Amino acid sequence: MNLKHHLDAIISARISEASGLDDSQALINYAREEKFGDYQANGIMGAAKKLQQNPRQLGEKVLENLDLEGIADKMELAGPGFINIFISADFLAKELNTLIQNDCLVVSSTQPQTVVVDYSSPNLAKEMHVGHLRGTIIGDALARLFDYLGHTVIKQNHFGDWGTQFGMLITYMQELQSNETSLENELADLEIFYRHAKEKFDADPEFAKTSRDNVVKLQAGDTECLTLWKAFIEVSVAHCQSLYEKLGITLTPEDIRAESFYNNDLPEIVRELDDKKLLTESDGARCVFLDEFTSKDGTPQPTIIQKSDGGYLYATTDLAAVRYRCNELNANRVLYVVDARQSLHFQQVFQVADKAGFINSDCSLEHLSYGTMMGVDGKPFKTRSGGTVKLLDLMEEGVNRAHDVVAEKNSSLEGAEQQSIADIVGIAAIKYFELSKNRNSDYIFDWDTMLSFEGNTAPYLLYAYARIRSIFRKIDQDESSGFIIVISEPEEKALALKLLQFTETMEQVAQDCLPNQLCLYLYELAGLYMRFYEACPVLKAGPAVRGSRLGLSHLTAKTLKEGLKLLGIETLEQM
Ligand code: ARG
Repeated sequence: MNLKHHLDAIISARISEASGLDDSQALINYAREEKFGDYQANGIMGAAKKLQQNPRQLGEKVLENLDLEGIADKMELAGPGFINIFISADFLAKELNTLIQNDCLVVSSTQPQTVVVDYSSPNLAKEMHVGHLRGTIIGDALARLFDYLGHTVIKQNHFGDWGTQFGMLITYMQELQSNETSLENELADLEIFYRHAKEKFDADPEFAKTSRDNVVKLQAGDTECLTLWKAFIEVSVAHCQSLYEKLGITLTPEDIRAESFYNNDLPEIVRELDDKKLLTESDGARCVFLDEFTSKDGTPQPTIIQKSDGGYLYATTDLAAVRYRCNELNANRVLYVVDARQSLHFQQVFQVADKAGFINSDCSLEHLSYGTMMGVDGKPFKTRSGGTVKLLDLMEEGVNRAHDVVAEKNSSLEGAEQQSIADIVGIAAIKYFELSKNRNSDYIFDWDTMLSFEGNTAPYLLYAYARIRSIFRKIDQDESSGFIIVISEPEEKALALKLLQFTETMEQVAQDCLPNQLCLYLYELAGLYMRFYEACPVLKAGPAVRGSRLGLSHLTAKTLKEGLKLLGIETLEQM
């Protein structure tokens, strides 16, 4: 159950009764210190202020009628008017036993929704690099999480496959073909291919002109250009797909709704905006001017929809995508996991879409922006020579470094085993490090921290999981299920409460779309387990207590495994 919401509902109702204000909020939060209990209701002060009453007096009144029988064994009024709530050990045991019996960890009460997640979405005219890492990893974790909570998830990989660079690439392909150079060979290393095409484009005005003509031809449906474009896209998509697989990202070719997908809708978008009288001509381009967007000196800033040469823009495609996601996919939430630098773009697109009536009333569009990945020097992450870091190289380095760490920590393992552990730990370390940071801030990409066995890292959690699993290798089959949890020690209670809080953590993450909250939860859970394990012998305890402690261990391992899986991280039975 979502205990936090449950307490919130009950206590909010009591505050409303006591205050006569029907929209009172209990504002339940976690107690900051053990002596203040487990949860704290902070909403009384606000209600008292509205009524100009003494908050403690209102608090007394709330407490008088507050019945948490069976859930809490103590409630007290504290400070200027908080209510401290001490959850009962028996209640926790009962709830956990239900989870064990039903073999599930989360009992979600939220209404299922259709959630569209737009993520990864690299531009295909370039090789995927570290700039796409954050969005890809965060988006995938969110997609997994919403699915786990029972929502219908529709992933959308909005590949950039239709911009002006494709004219240049097509021209280069034409040139190679006429020189009878094997295209396949040239496309084997995309990075080199782009570089060569770009060099030509910059050096040769004739080439540049043909390139520009080719964009127009492509967008008008010219067969030769389309064929070359398709051949290129195929290679590029296959390249991304293999990266996704190496990185454990669930995106598949079915999730592709690239920019080109919306090409035929674009004239219609312009027509609809025109019908709504939203379009203004400015220097030959068709634009939308909204009062919300002005520059510092107050001059209105346009959202450009169509250029004077008839070409469409990034925003036009995104308007078509909004319409598709609302009307065809029937989304309740559309989540755009995209770099913070595009925040103005999305504000504009969302506003224009709203004015144009593209958004259903029960649909929210949310830009989940994220900051930049920095190097240890505090500057955007680059190779030593200052180039962009390829994702493939980064993953390889992660695995190599993990191998050194694993070999040092466990030198008795065989070479092949060390390698297969390193394969998992290397990727896990990169992904977890990313996910454990609040996506809104920039973060420093630091190998040593992410591969450390101490702190909120993947190696720490993987190790904690493997350690619990090792207990289960020491017991008989008939002891490994049917646990009944009974709580007596404070360390057992703290662990049990944390286990029960998996549901509310997950629902919070789904609301805020901040996977770092789940990371922190798992880290704290592992820490509480360690404390429990030190204070409460498991295998040396008498039969009943041993069964209960095995049950707590089982639930902890299961929660860690499930939680990591939702973050896209594989666990290891042994490390
Ligand atoms: N292709 C874009 C880029 O790499 C990101 C696309 C994000 N999604 C969207 N619907 N605009 O910058």
